[in-house]
Amino acid sequence: MKFSRILGTGGYLPSRVMTNAELEAIVDTTDSWIRERTGIEKRHLVSEGETCCDLAEIAAQRALEAAGLQPIDLDLILVATTTPDQFFPSTACLLQQRLGAHGCPAFDLQAVCAGFVYAMDVADKYIRIGAARHVLVVGAETLSRLLDWSDRTTCVLFGDGAGAVVLGAADEPGILSTHIHADGTYKDLLQVPGGHGNGRPDLAYLEMKGNEVFRFAVTTLGRIAERTLEVHGLAKSDLDWLIPHQANIRIIQATARKLDLPMERVIVTVAEHGNTSSASIPLAFDQAVRDGRIQRGQTLLMEAFGGGFTWGSVLVQY
Ligand code: ACO
Repeated sequence: MKFSRILGTGGYLPSRVMTNAELEAIVDTTDSWIRERTGIEKRHLVSEGETCCDLAEIAAQRALEAAGLQPIDLDLILVATTTPDQFFPSTACLLQQRLGAHGCPAFDLQAVCAGFVYAMDVADKYIRIGAARHVLVVGAETLSRLLDWSDRTTCVLFGDGAGAVVLGAADEPGILSTHIHADGTYKDLLQVPGGHGNGRPDLAYLEMKGNEVFRFAVTTLGRIAERTLEVHGLAKSDLDWLIPHQANIRIIQATARKLDLPMERVIVTVAEHGNTSSASIPLAFDQAVRDGRIQRGQTLLMEAFGGGFTWGSVLVQY
């Protein structure tokens, strides 16, 4: 078995919904500014006491159920997150305990909004080399806890949630390829500058030079999307669905234009979810699988861009 295939998907959003109108009462913003500049209408937020692992657990259970597998069948658990419940143990270990999948390796992976794409890259490689047969990949975030709720330039953008997929070894692809990149030169454009690690927990809030991130994201995502297809000798018209990271509708539209893809073939959840960082792609993917838009045999492209900078893509024969 030389390939990995997606066997099941799952997602979970916390029940609390915050609308743009509620944000108008907190910071100097308007519903129309947020909709026009980002496409976001509302977002889900964790309630007090609710954690990243709580979201990950439900998404993971749904993905396992869809795959027809039990936790005991898992050979590896990967959780992509920027907002782990604790410094340690990792959220992957906490999740493993909740699922009752004792013994298999479990670790977190941190690449901010590109975290899910990074985790898919790792999972695919574990399966291809024969080190695992079944891998649970979760993107789970409570980014609302890293927001400065008095900063209108960032607090309107993000939401919380979790998405998951189960990958299994297969004779046919499956995942056609994964491509991941990073460039730490741009570390200051999108960051949480402080934390216990550098003795500045007072600076543990997200900062972003939105305009510069926007320009870099549009150029980079367009390029990696085109390049991923080229590497496989695929034409743009071979693509059935684009499943982009959901940061901003204008970035998504720009990538779709680059691929000559009508928006009807792009999975968009940014209006309802906001930017859920590493959870955004698996959440969008799960939604489109469950509502029947994405069908077996179709060609899918996932792409993401995040703090670091980090970025990447996953090309899938679903
Ligand atoms: N409400 C009203 N006005 C606002 C708000 C707001 N919420 N936020 C900013 N403004 C104002 C600014 O202060 C500015 O006013 P000024 O001209 O008087 O100075 C004006 O709106 C324009 O601000 P810009 O930052 O230039 O607005 P822009 O069109 O670039 O949109 C946005 C900002 C939405 C943040 C956009 O730049 C963006 O989406 N950037 C990329 C985000 C992204 O992809 N991040 C990567 C993933 S995230 C991760 O990895 C954690």
